[in-house]
Amino acid sequence: MQGFNPASSFGATVAAHYDDTPRGDEGAAVQFLQAIALTPSALEFAIGTGRIALPLAATGMQVDGIELSHDMIARLHAKPAGANIHVVQGDMSTVQMGQRYGLVYLVFNTIFNLLTVDGQIECFANAARHLSDDGVFVVETALPHTWMPSGKSDYVHAEQVNIDSVMFDVARYDPVTQHLSENHVRISASGISMQPIVCRLITPGEMDLMARMAGLKLIHRFANWQKTPFDAQSTAHVSVYGHQ
Ligand SMILES: C[S@@+](CC[C@H](N)C(=O)[O-])C[C@H]1O[C@@H](n2cnc3c(N)ncnc32)[C@H](O)[C@@H]1O
Repeated sequence: MQGFNPASSFGATVAAHYDDTPRGDEGAAVQFLQAIALTPSALEFAIGTGRIALPLAATGMQVDGIELSHDMIARLHAKPAGANIHVVQGDMSTVQMGQRYGLVYLVFNTIFNLLTVDGQIECFANAARHLSDDGVFVVETALPHTWMPSGKSDYVHAEQVNIDSVMFDVARYDPVTQHLSENHVRISASGISMQPIVCRLITPGEMDLMARMAGLKLIHRFANWQKTPFDAQSTAHVSVYGHQ
Protein backbone atom coordinates (compact mmCIF):
# COMPACT_ATOMS: atom_id res chain seq x y z
CA MET A 1 0.00 0.00 0.00
CA GLN A 2 1.75 3.12 -1.25
CA GLY A 3 2.59 5.64 1.47
CA PHE A 4 1.55 3.34 4.33
CA ASN A 5 3.26 4.12 7.65
CA PRO A 6 3.00 1.22 10.19
CA ALA A 7 3.26 3.69 13.10
CA SER A 8 -0.03 5.29 12.00
CA SER A 9 -2.18 2.11 12.22
CA PHE A 10 -2.76 2.40 15.96
CA GLY A 11 -3.15 6.17 16.35
CA ALA A 12 -5.49 8.15 18.61
CA THR A 13 -8.79 7.08 16.97
CA VAL A 14 -7.99 3.35 16.93
CA ALA A 15 -6.58 3.52 20.47
CA ALA A 16 -9.72 5.27 21.76
CA HIS A 17 -11.97 2.42 20.54
CA TYR A 18 -9.54 -0.52 20.81
CA ASP A 19 -11.12 -1.93 23.97
CA ASP A 20 -14.77 -1.43 22.90
CA THR A 21 -15.12 -4.96 21.52
CA PRO A 22 -12.81 -7.37 23.37
CA ARG A 23 -11.49 -10.25 21.29
CA GLY A 24 -12.78 -12.78 23.83
CA ASP A 25 -9.65 -14.90 24.33
CA GLU A 26 -8.26 -12.88 27.24
CA GLY A 27 -9.04 -15.34 30.07
CA ALA A 28 -7.73 -18.37 28.18
CA ALA A 29 -4.59 -16.54 27.04
CA VAL A 30 -3.76 -15.38 30.56
CA GLN A 31 -4.27 -18.88 31.97
CA PHE A 32 -1.99 -20.36 29.30
CA LEU A 33 0.75 -17.73 29.71
CA GLN A 34 0.76 -17.86 33.49
CA ALA A 35 1.03 -21.66 33.47
CA ILE A 36 3.88 -21.80 30.93
CA ALA A 37 6.16 -19.22 32.63
CA LEU A 38 8.65 -20.87 34.97
CA THR A 39 9.50 -17.53 36.61
CA PRO A 40 6.93 -14.76 37.27
CA SER A 41 8.42 -12.10 34.98
CA ALA A 42 7.07 -11.41 31.52
CA LEU A 43 7.67 -9.06 28.61
CA GLU A 44 4.92 -8.41 26.08
CA PHE A 45 6.05 -7.33 22.62
CA ALA A 46 3.46 -4.84 21.26
CA ILE A 47 1.62 -4.56 24.58
CA GLY A 48 -1.09 -2.27 23.19
CA THR A 49 -3.63 -1.08 25.78
CA GLY A 50 -2.83 -3.99 28.12
CA ARG A 51 -5.66 -6.32 27.02
CA ILE A 52 -3.53 -9.32 28.09
CA ALA A 53 -0.85 -7.62 30.22
CA LEU A 54 -3.23 -6.18 32.81
CA PRO A 55 -5.06 -9.43 33.70
CA LEU A 56 -1.71 -11.28 33.58
CA ALA A 57 -0.18 -8.76 36.00
CA ALA A 58 -3.25 -9.19 38.23
CA THR A 59 -2.23 -12.85 38.74
CA GLY A 60 0.95 -11.60 40.46
CA MET A 61 3.36 -11.61 37.52
CA GLN A 62 5.64 -8.68 36.77
CA VAL A 63 4.73 -7.65 33.22
CA ASP A 64 6.71 -5.11 31.15
CA GLY A 65 6.02 -4.05 27.59
CA ILE A 66 7.39 -2.67 24.34
CA GLU A 67 4.97 -0.71 22.16
CA LEU A 68 5.31 1.45 19.06
CA SER A 69 2.22 3.62 19.49
CA HIS A 70 2.23 6.51 21.96
CA ASP A 71 -1.61 6.54 21.87
CA MET A 72 -1.91 2.84 22.81
CA ILE A 73 0.55 3.35 25.70
CA ALA A 74 -1.43 6.38 26.91
CA ARG A 75 -4.63 4.26 27.00
CA LEU A 76 -2.83 1.55 28.98
CA HIS A 77 -1.39 4.00 31.49
CA ALA A 78 -4.78 5.70 31.96
CA LYS A 79 -6.35 2.42 33.21
CA PRO A 80 -6.47 1.40 36.88
CA ALA A 81 -3.23 -0.56 37.48
CA GLY A 82 -1.99 0.45 34.03
CA ALA A 83 0.40 3.02 35.50
CA ASN A 84 2.28 0.15 37.20
CA ILE A 85 3.20 -1.43 33.86
CA HIS A 86 6.65 -0.37 32.65
CA VAL A 87 6.52 0.23 28.89
CA VAL A 88 9.28 1.34 26.56
CA GLN A 89 8.06 3.06 23.40
CA GLY A 90 9.72 1.70 20.28
CA ASP A 91 10.06 -1.20 17.87
CA MET A 92 9.81 -4.67 19.40
CA SER A 93 12.48 -5.98 17.01
CA THR A 94 15.14 -3.61 18.37
CA VAL A 95 14.27 -2.16 21.82
CA GLN A 96 16.46 -3.50 24.65
CA MET A 97 14.94 -3.68 28.14
CA GLY A 98 18.26 -4.41 29.88
CA GLN A 99 16.73 -7.40 31.65
CA ARG A 100 15.84 -11.05 30.92
CA TYR A 101 12.42 -12.63 31.45
CA GLY A 102 10.93 -16.09 32.00
CA LEU A 103 8.31 -15.31 29.36
CA VAL A 104 8.25 -13.12 26.26
CA TYR A 105 5.00 -13.16 24.30
CA LEU A 106 3.61 -11.68 21.09
CA VAL A 107 -0.09 -12.28 20.40
CA PHE A 108 -3.01 -11.28 18.17
CA ASN A 109 -1.16 -11.75 14.82
CA THR A 110 1.20 -8.89 15.68
CA ILE A 111 4.40 -10.49 14.30
CA PHE A 112 2.62 -9.79 10.96
CA ASN A 113 2.86 -6.03 11.68
CA LEU A 114 6.58 -6.18 10.90
CA LEU A 115 6.63 -5.76 7.13
CA THR A 116 10.00 -7.19 6.14
CA VAL A 117 11.58 -10.60 6.53
CA ASP A 118 14.55 -8.91 8.25
CA GLY A 119 12.24 -7.19 10.74
CA GLN A 120 10.54 -10.48 11.58
CA ILE A 121 13.90 -12.31 11.93
CA GLU A 122 15.13 -9.48 14.19
CA CYS A 123 12.00 -9.79 16.29
CA PHE A 124 12.78 -13.47 17.04
CA ALA A 125 16.41 -12.51 17.80
CA ASN A 126 15.24 -9.78 20.18
CA ALA A 127 12.91 -12.20 21.94
CA ALA A 128 15.81 -14.66 22.35
CA ARG A 129 18.02 -11.88 23.81
CA HIS A 130 15.37 -11.13 26.46
CA LEU A 131 14.78 -14.75 27.55
CA SER A 132 16.29 -16.26 30.67
CA ASP A 133 18.01 -19.63 30.12
CA ASP A 134 14.76 -21.54 30.81
CA GLY A 135 12.50 -18.80 29.40
CA VAL A 136 9.92 -19.26 26.62
CA PHE A 137 8.76 -17.11 23.71
CA VAL A 138 5.06 -17.53 22.90
CA VAL A 139 3.70 -16.39 19.52
CA GLU A 140 0.04 -16.53 18.51
CA THR A 141 -1.25 -15.91 14.97
CA ALA A 142 -3.84 -16.99 12.44
CA LEU A 143 -2.75 -19.28 9.60
CA PRO A 144 -2.31 -17.11 6.47
CA HIS A 145 -4.40 -19.31 4.15
CA THR A 146 -7.48 -18.80 6.34
CA TRP A 147 -7.40 -15.05 5.57
CA MET A 148 -7.64 -15.61 1.80
CA PRO A 149 -11.20 -16.68 0.90
CA SER A 150 -11.23 -19.43 -1.78
CA GLY A 151 -7.65 -18.81 -2.78
CA LYS A 152 -8.41 -15.30 -4.13
CA SER A 153 -5.74 -12.62 -3.85
CA ASP A 154 -8.22 -9.78 -3.31
CA TYR A 155 -11.57 -9.52 -1.59
CA VAL A 156 -14.23 -7.31 -0.04
CA HIS A 157 -15.74 -8.61 3.19
CA ALA A 158 -18.87 -7.20 4.86
CA GLU A 159 -18.15 -6.80 8.58
CA GLN A 160 -21.28 -4.95 9.66
CA VAL A 161 -24.43 -4.21 7.70
CA ASN A 162 -26.72 -1.86 9.65
CA ILE A 163 -29.66 0.29 8.59
CA ASP A 164 -27.66 3.52 8.89
CA SER A 165 -24.06 2.36 8.45
CA VAL A 166 -21.90 -0.34 6.87
CA MET A 167 -18.39 -1.53 7.65
CA PHE A 168 -16.36 -3.56 5.25
CA ASP A 169 -12.80 -4.68 4.57
CA VAL A 170 -11.15 -4.18 1.19
CA ALA A 171 -8.00 -6.29 0.91
CA ARG A 172 -5.35 -7.41 -1.56
CA TYR A 173 -2.57 -9.95 -1.09
CA ASP A 174 0.78 -9.68 -2.87
CA PRO A 175 2.59 -13.04 -2.89
CA VAL A 176 5.91 -11.37 -3.74
CA THR A 177 6.11 -9.22 -0.59
CA GLN A 178 3.68 -11.48 1.37
CA HIS A 179 1.84 -8.27 2.23
CA LEU A 180 -1.88 -8.31 2.90
CA SER A 181 -2.96 -4.68 2.44
CA GLU A 182 -6.31 -4.01 4.05
CA ASN A 183 -8.51 -0.98 4.49
CA HIS A 184 -11.36 -1.06 7.02
CA VAL A 185 -13.99 1.29 5.58
CA ARG A 186 -16.95 2.69 7.52
CA ILE A 187 -19.77 4.56 5.78
CA SER A 188 -22.48 6.31 7.81
CA ALA A 189 -24.45 9.58 7.88
CA SER A 190 -21.44 11.23 9.52
CA GLY A 191 -19.21 10.39 6.56
CA ILE A 192 -16.66 7.86 5.37
CA SER A 193 -13.68 6.79 7.46
CA MET A 194 -10.81 4.48 6.58
CA GLN A 195 -8.36 2.51 8.70
CA PRO A 196 -5.54 1.09 6.59
CA ILE A 197 -3.24 -1.68 7.79
CA VAL A 198 -0.61 -3.84 6.10
CA CYS A 199 0.47 -7.25 7.41
CA ARG A 200 3.31 -9.50 6.27
CA LEU A 201 1.81 -13.00 6.51
CA ILE A 202 4.11 -15.87 7.50
CA THR A 203 3.42 -19.53 8.16
CA PRO A 204 4.33 -21.51 11.29
CA GLY A 205 7.15 -23.13 9.31
CA GLU A 206 8.72 -19.76 8.49
CA MET A 207 8.49 -18.81 12.17
CA ASP A 208 10.26 -22.04 13.15
CA LEU A 209 13.15 -21.13 10.81
CA MET A 210 13.33 -17.59 12.21
CA ALA A 211 13.38 -19.07 15.69
CA ARG A 212 16.22 -21.45 14.76
CA MET A 213 18.22 -18.51 13.37
CA ALA A 214 17.77 -16.85 16.78
CA GLY A 215 18.99 -19.96 18.63
CA LEU A 216 15.48 -21.02 19.66
CA LYS A 217 13.57 -24.23 18.96
CA LEU A 218 9.90 -25.13 18.90
CA ILE A 219 8.76 -26.79 22.14
CA HIS A 220 4.95 -26.88 21.70
CA ARG A 221 2.44 -25.91 19.04
CA PHE A 222 -1.28 -25.83 19.79
CA ALA A 223 -4.30 -24.72 17.73
CA ASN A 224 -5.45 -22.29 20.45
CA TRP A 225 -5.00 -21.21 24.07
CA GLN A 226 -7.05 -24.24 25.20
CA LYS A 227 -4.22 -26.49 23.91
CA THR A 228 -6.31 -28.19 21.22
CA PRO A 229 -3.83 -30.26 19.15
CA PHE A 230 -2.57 -28.43 16.05
CA ASP A 231 -3.68 -30.28 12.90
CA ALA A 232 -4.70 -29.81 9.25
CA GLN A 233 -8.04 -28.27 10.31
CA SER A 234 -6.42 -25.61 12.54
CA THR A 235 -7.04 -21.97 11.66
CA ALA A 236 -4.53 -20.50 14.14
CA HIS A 237 -1.56 -21.51 16.25
CA VAL A 238 -0.01 -20.83 19.61
CA SER A 239 3.70 -21.68 19.36
CA VAL A 240 6.11 -21.95 22.27
CA TYR A 241 9.87 -21.56 21.67
CA GLY A 242 12.80 -22.01 24.06
CA HIS A 243 16.61 -21.93 23.85
CA GLN A 244 18.12 -24.79 21.79
C1 LIG B 1 -3.46 -5.94 17.32
S1 LIG B 1 -2.68 -4.84 18.46
C2 LIG B 1 -2.27 -5.97 19.77
C3 LIG B 1 -2.11 -5.29 21.10
C4 LIG B 1 -2.03 -6.24 22.28
N1 LIG B 1 -0.88 -7.12 22.18
C5 LIG B 1 -3.30 -7.06 22.37
O1 LIG B 1 -3.23 -8.28 22.29
O2 LIG B 1 -4.38 -6.46 22.52
C6 LIG B 1 -1.12 -4.57 17.68
C7 LIG B 1 -0.22 -3.64 18.47
O3 LIG B 1 1.10 -3.77 17.95
C8 LIG B 1 1.74 -2.50 18.00
N2 LIG B 1 2.87 -2.56 17.10
C9 LIG B 1 2.86 -2.67 15.74
N3 LIG B 1 4.10 -2.76 15.26
C10 LIG B 1 4.93 -2.72 16.32
C11 LIG B 1 6.35 -2.76 16.47
N4 LIG B 1 7.16 -2.88 15.40
N5 LIG B 1 6.87 -2.70 17.70
C12 LIG B 1 6.07 -2.56 18.79
N6 LIG B 1 4.73 -2.50 18.72
C13 LIG B 1 4.16 -2.58 17.51
C14 LIG B 1 0.62 -1.57 17.60
O4 LIG B 1 0.90 -0.22 17.92
C15 LIG B 1 -0.55 -2.17 18.39
O5 LIG B 1 -0.62 -1.62 19.68
